[in-house]
Amino acid sequence: MCGIVGYVGRAEATPILLDGIRRLEYRGYDSAGIATLEEGVISIRKEVGRIDKLVEAVARNPIGGTTGICHTRWATHGKVTRENAHPHQDRSGKLALVHNGVIENYASLRAMMEGEGHRFLSQTDTEVLAHLIGRAFDRSAVRTREVLVDAVREALTKVTGTYGIAVIHSEFPGLIIGARRGSPLVLGIGKGEYFLASDVSAIVAHTRDVVYLNDYEIALITAEGFTLSTVQGEGAASHVTKVEMTEEDTGKGGYPHHMLKEIHEQARTVADAMRGRLSHEEATAKLGGLNMSNAELRAVERIVLSGCGTAFHAAMVGEYLIEHLAQIPTECEYASELRYRNLPMTKDTLVFVLSQSGETADTLAAMRESRRKGHRTLGICNNVASTIARESDGGVYMHAGPEIGVAATKSFTSQVTILVLIALLLGRIRNLSSAAGGRIIEELEALPSLIEQVLKLEPVIERVAKRHAHAKVMLFLGRQYNYPVALEGALKLKEISYIAASGHPSAELKHGVIALVNPETPSVFIAPHDTLFSKNLSNIEEVKARGGPIIAIGTEGRSEELAKLCDDLILIPDAPEILTPILTSIVLQFFAYHIAVELGCDVDKPRNLAKSVTVE
Ligand code: M6R
Repeated sequence: MCGIVGYVGRAEATPILLDGIRRLEYRGYDSAGIATLEEGVISIRKEVGRIDKLVEAVARNPIGGTTGICHTRWATHGKVTRENAHPHQDRSGKLALVHNGVIENYASLRAMMEGEGHRFLSQTDTEVLAHLIGRAFDRSAVRTREVLVDAVREALTKVTGTYGIAVIHSEFPGLIIGARRGSPLVLGIGKGEYFLASDVSAIVAHTRDVVYLNDYEIALITAEGFTLSTVQGEGAASHVTKVEMTEEDTGKGGYPHHMLKEIHEQARTVADAMRGRLSHEEATAKLGGLNMSNAELRAVERIVLSGCGTAFHAAMVGEYLIEHLAQIPTECEYASELRYRNLPMTKDTLVFVLSQSGETADTLAAMRESRRKGHRTLGICNNVASTIARESDGGVYMHAGPEIGVAATKSFTSQVTILVLIALLLGRIRNLSSAAGGRIIEELEALPSLIEQVLKLEPVIERVAKRHAHAKVMLFLGRQYNYPVALEGALKLKEISYIAASGHPSAELKHGVIALVNPETPSVFIAPHDTLFSKNLSNIEEVKARGGPIIAIGTEGRSEELAKLCDDLILIPDAPEILTPILTSIVLQFFAYHIAVELGCDVDKPRNLAKSVTVE
């Protein structure tokens, strides 16, 4: 949430910063700003709206210098205005700061400084932090960079909340100070130049050698090098990591939107999620990253799966999978609820947190709370350098490559694939026979080619989407494995097209939802030929009897009755029931995508949203 880029070196900072911040635009796009330092003067440009506006403003009124910081904002405190856009300055105007996160006690700090005569120009918590650092520094007669770092330290010990910050000061040309607690920050190492960013994708065009800052670490960065220390004033060791991501991975690959590219990647990403993890010999999955022996896995008596948004929907599929294949009582909980809930958990409870980014604030907090209580807590993440990946007791990486579109697509299908592997593994050390395990492995291996077939349905789905694009309300209905898909289909649609959509178990219709059915409200039934197909048919009849338009997802060659009832039918290839969520969800991704395009919506950057939600 929000994006930060910093640069210090010998090149002009502005183009590097603007290019980097463009790559982070998916993190927030309410407003953007840049500050550079040249000949002892800080110059700032800020604009409301997308990065393009900032680029235009800089083109109109250029700023120079080889040191600078830049920010794209997702508003938390204060409206979307130029005053509230970052960078913010301290009282002297000599210090500029960009910030990701939330300073929870900003109101009392602001009141305290207002009492001392400070005047604030914005409503933000960030400006309070800028003043707090400047105030600490300006109390000192000694003006060295070490004293400035101490002032950062002093201010950070006074704040509660989360921060990833980059600071420049006009008295120290060629210096950036970065610090983090709860909001990611990565330092990029170039030749005679250094970068700072909230996400590595902002800097991979310049360097693949990076250092991920840990919580409470402060980096003092110049063109000659950097040092790390802690907020408490201790030294900190740096570990240089080679980033695997390339510049091309973060592009659109010739597609008009990241979302469409990511939908089309799914045959490969699902294959990557299981690569090297299937054992024909033992008819099971091999998941070494769990760091658990079979005996330890055998002792698990209960499982809790947690995440937010799409990751939560994947977790719901996991609940069905683990109970079905391994017969272990499993429960899903929104991370935002789990973190504050006193969920009774026996000591043999295993917790999984699911997160594409590995940085979602609620999921991170749920993971920490669960670990604090002594539960083994494993992550299912895409971002290998993320905080969840680093702090969890183990887990399974998705290997899906960067997901840039704000709407999660490939991360959902990768998470579900991994949950099939986990359920298979847990089942095989319990009651699942080797014959059944072997069958699932064969089915998994055939899955990428089934996905290829679904991807070829795009033109059909596009036609259906265009026919229904002007609906004001839509219902999504499914049973068992496809009930979470109904929730996910509704989330995709509302998130990128702003159509009011809700997902329900099909049978819940008659308990209230059916009151919404009318000729203007399409119902999307996810009704592949599974064990409850005939039950879904009855629910479809109920909608048809009330004149509601019906769009259905059925199974090729097994949907004659469905065809008679529906206005539009999309047929996926015949697939094992446990794998249908992967195929049906892809249909609904295309459906939402083409509706959003038809409505002229900004698919990759829907209003009010940001890719990674690092605030509570
Ligand atoms: O990075 P995470 O998987 O933890 O993100 C969780 C949600 O914020 C995310 O899935 C969100 O719901 C998506 N925008 C949905 O498309």
